[in-house]
Amino acid sequence: MKSNARIGILTAGGDCPGLNAAIRGVAKAAMHYGMTVVGIRDGFRGLVENRTMPIDNPLVSGILTQGGTFLGSSRDRPHKMKVNGRNVDMTSAAVRTYRKLRLDCLVCLGGNGTQKSALALRENGGIDVLTLPKTIDNDVAETEITFGFDSAMSIATEAIDRLHTTATSHQRIIVCEVMGHDAGWLCLGSGIAGGADVILIPEIPYDLSAVVRHLVRRNKAGKRFSIVAVAEGIASMGEAAARSEAGGKAGAHRSAPPHLEAFAAPGTEGIRLVQEPVSSRIARQLQQLTGTEARVTSLGHVQRGGSPTPFDRLLCTRLGTKAVELISRGRFNVMVAIKANECVPVSLEKVAGRKRTVPPDHPWVQTARLTETCLGDQ
Ligand code: F6P
Repeated sequence: MKSNARIGILTAGGDCPGLNAAIRGVAKAAMHYGMTVVGIRDGFRGLVENRTMPIDNPLVSGILTQGGTFLGSSRDRPHKMKVNGRNVDMTSAAVRTYRKLRLDCLVCLGGNGTQKSALALRENGGIDVLTLPKTIDNDVAETEITFGFDSAMSIATEAIDRLHTTATSHQRIIVCEVMGHDAGWLCLGSGIAGGADVILIPEIPYDLSAVVRHLVRRNKAGKRFSIVAVAEGIASMGEAAARSEAGGKAGAHRSAPPHLEAFAAPGTEGIRLVQEPVSSRIARQLQQLTGTEARVTSLGHVQRGGSPTPFDRLLCTRLGTKAVELISRGRFNVMVAIKANECVPVSLEKVAGRKRTVPPDHPWVQTARLTETCLGDQ
């Protein structure tokens, strides 16, 4: 690879703590190798619309600890971009910008959608790409962890800790809704770490009567409160059966995050209305069936804000610098994954279009069961 290579970098999909740390890792390592870095604004839309900014050393100084992404992000996909309300294939415009900027590689930081878009640009646009696995959902295939997950898990855990004290004081059930789309990693991880009494995840369809029995048993044992952690993508056994009969995969419930499954009134296309969060429904049912007062806390985007944990700062810096090392060796069209705690390249074809959900026999599931946690199924 030539030493004066030019790298484009963009951040796409939902933001998370650690994006700035990863951009910094890429930029500092690139400068170390004598490469030039060009920032692309607002995800793939910035690439299509040629919205860029130079990235120099002062710009990436002091951003290791900052949340969000200074480049901006969007959920736009180059091969299916909304233009005047219609989905248009803008691959050629994206490639035009890439060529105009004389880039040798485009580094894309994102989750599952980004992995797919990067591969599509490679296959249909013929450009060289390299990706990093980012998402609080931790559901990217072929990597043991994604960056952003640890920070979000620490926020959700702290929330569950705090809910314990108020739930005890008032002898209530508190239902805490955790993000994660169709994957239960965030809810399961923070639920175990925070000592939730019930943890419901999309991969294990729940039976409400099993949850009620567990809460009543706790009450009879003198425990005067209960914390119920629910992932936003959960489904009851009945809902899961209906979905799989309708042809859906078990555990994969929706194409859009539950709270985005909105109903736009005619003429308000693009405006999302928020439906009743799943946690409200569960709290209402549990209050009715147990006779114990219930409250709801939906953590929402709080889980995506603020400074990354030390673990994520280290992970992002490792992934970002490894990306540049791979580029310096002419290794493209891969995602930098974590396997056995090492940063390794994995072919994008293996990653794109697949999701890593919680296997029902995962050790964390067993850990939860062995610590008297109800997972809603027994
Ligand atoms: O993928 C990250 C995530 O935070 C999911 O956990 C959640 O379902 C979704 O994004 C929320 O998306 P948005 O920020 O577009 O509302």
